[in-house]
Amino acid sequence: MDASKAHPLLPLFASSMFLTFGGALAGGWLISRKPDKRQLPDETSRRETFDKKAHRWDKDVRTDEFFMGIGRWRRSMCERAEGHVLETAVGTGRNFAFYNTAKVKSVVATDFSRKMLKVASTKKKFLDPIPSRFVASNSLKLDFGDDTFDTVVDTFGICSYEKPVETINEMARVMKPSGKMLLLEHGAGTGNAINWWLRSNLVHHVHKYGCYHNRKIDHIVKLAGLDVTEVERRHAGTSYMIIATKSCSGAPLMRTPSQLKADEERELSEATADEVNPERFFALPGAAFREVYEDLPPPEERSIMGNFAMSIYEDLAKKVRLIWPDKKDDEDEDSFEDGREEQTLVPSASEKDSE
Ligand SMILES: C[S@@+](CC[C@H](N)C(=O)[O-])C[C@H]1O[C@@H](n2cnc3c(N)ncnc32)[C@H](O)[C@@H]1O
Repeated sequence: MDASKAHPLLPLFASSMFLTFGGALAGGWLISRKPDKRQLPDETSRRETFDKKAHRWDKDVRTDEFFMGIGRWRRSMCERAEGHVLETAVGTGRNFAFYNTAKVKSVVATDFSRKMLKVASTKKKFLDPIPSRFVASNSLKLDFGDDTFDTVVDTFGICSYEKPVETINEMARVMKPSGKMLLLEHGAGTGNAINWWLRSNLVHHVHKYGCYHNRKIDHIVKLAGLDVTEVERRHAGTSYMIIATKSCSGAPLMRTPSQLKADEERELSEATADEVNPERFFALPGAAFREVYEDLPPPEERSIMGNFAMSIYEDLAKKVRLIWPDKKDDEDEDSFEDGREEQTLVPSASEKDSE
């Protein structure tokens, strides 16, 4: 057939067929997958997994990290390290180039995989002139005194710890009361679909990569007794950057899940009513929408499709309570503090006459 005579809608038809059949195949595959019934590997066999992967680790993760912007995130987080730094689960030393040599006085790098640590030690030059030490150690039992380090750094280690809460608590023990913990981790996301996907792949993932990829990292850090002072999440919430501090001097006490729940409820009730008020939450997109909406041509001047789209949007907006309340006169904001209006307003001439 002469391609120039092909129907103009052919590409549209072909791509919609491709999407329909592709979607059906992917959905079928997802539903028909057999659950992985293997036992989860123990810590020793997971360490062997890391040992085996050490020599090609950088090659394996480089591309993913590039596309996910992890390098830039590592840099911005590690630049905040200062003083004497402990980097736990250091792996192949992928953060070394990002420490600020003017702020960091020393780096101690630990990992329980000697093979990983060996690769990291070949990158010692990236730390120069910062003095460094490499110590083979499980992060659960660190051979350092209490309150030793100014900064504790851990990137993508919490997912691999056998006892994550206890391990973070141990890392906090060796951190000075004025110190900070810098964490860049991956774990559970913010949506049900992604979390279902992570859960359904968990056993396979732990066997292959040695890590549990669906942990709620912020929750774990709080359970370990630390104060989370900053959290940033990306990639559907599955990547976390967390800055945490000790809430008081000495080793932080681990919290039980029920204590954590009580703490979170207290924090929530202490938040101002405005912060948790859903109407206020929706008011901002509502106002933005109103501005766009008011600039649109009137319904009689819109195309049929335009009117159809608007009616769906309006209906949806009402359903999800995306409210754009009509501005009432008395809602006009002024900058007066309570009681100031009376002092500053001068009566008009007519008001003066009637007095
Ligand atoms: C996913 S890699 C991350 C490596 C590195 N931090 C990075 O950002 O590329 C996890 C590392 O944690 C180490 N690891 C896992 N469990 C550990 C533990 N209990 N104690 C110390 N290191 C551990 C592994 O050997 C591995 O090097």
